[in-house]
Amino acid sequence: MLKRIRTAVLVSGGGTNLQAIIDAAADGRIRHAELALVAASNPDAYALVRAERAGIPTAVVSRKAYLDAAAFENALLSVLREKGIELIVLAGFMTILSADFIRRYENRIINVHPSLIPSFCGKGYYGLRVHEAALAYGVKVTGATVHFVNEIPDGGAIIAQKPVMIRKNDTPETLQRRVMERAEWKLLPRALELVSIELAKSKQK
Ligand code: GAR
Repeated sequence: MLKRIRTAVLVSGGGTNLQAIIDAAADGRIRHAELALVAASNPDAYALVRAERAGIPTAVVSRKAYLDAAAFENALLSVLREKGIELIVLAGFMTILSADFIRRYENRIINVHPSLIPSFCGKGYYGLRVHEAALAYGVKVTGATVHFVNEIPDGGAIIAQKPVMIRKNDTPETLQRRVMERAEWKLLPRALELVSIELAKSKQK
């Protein structure tokens, strides 16, 4: 049996992607990642309730509590180190991490984005805004992407993608929900398991 990879999920909001990961861990679809920490950038994030219910340790590292981005990231890094975190999942985490932070977890941070990258991604494209942009452009297909995080926002290597068809009467809200249900909640747990297996194998060597 490979050793499980100590994983932190970073969240800022509702945490439905976190829930998808928790459910996948509970029913055996995730076997190589150990959910060791949920860290929120927002003390009111409902994701914290989901984590507590699942018995996962939580931490709040609020950007507003720190003078600058460097102080915030140092606080986050010390929580991650304290918990021995080896892999980070950004699941609706709304703060862009610096190149300096990312270098410390090179190829060990994955993110879910609610479009088919390279469309509707990068700075300023997050949450509902992504779906508003897809509808405004008039694309007929959108979807979700899980990718490694590098210093370019939404620019790291793609791990998995899933398309979702746009319907004539879609609003940003209906589209967001369908992209989550049909793509994100399936893709993210699968990608996490795949990456964890690879990390666990390389640790064993
Ligand atoms: C998800 O749709 C996620 O893909 C998106 O925010 C939502 C978070 O929902 N992330 C981004 O836009 C990142 N650029 P959740 O808190 O319910 O998982």
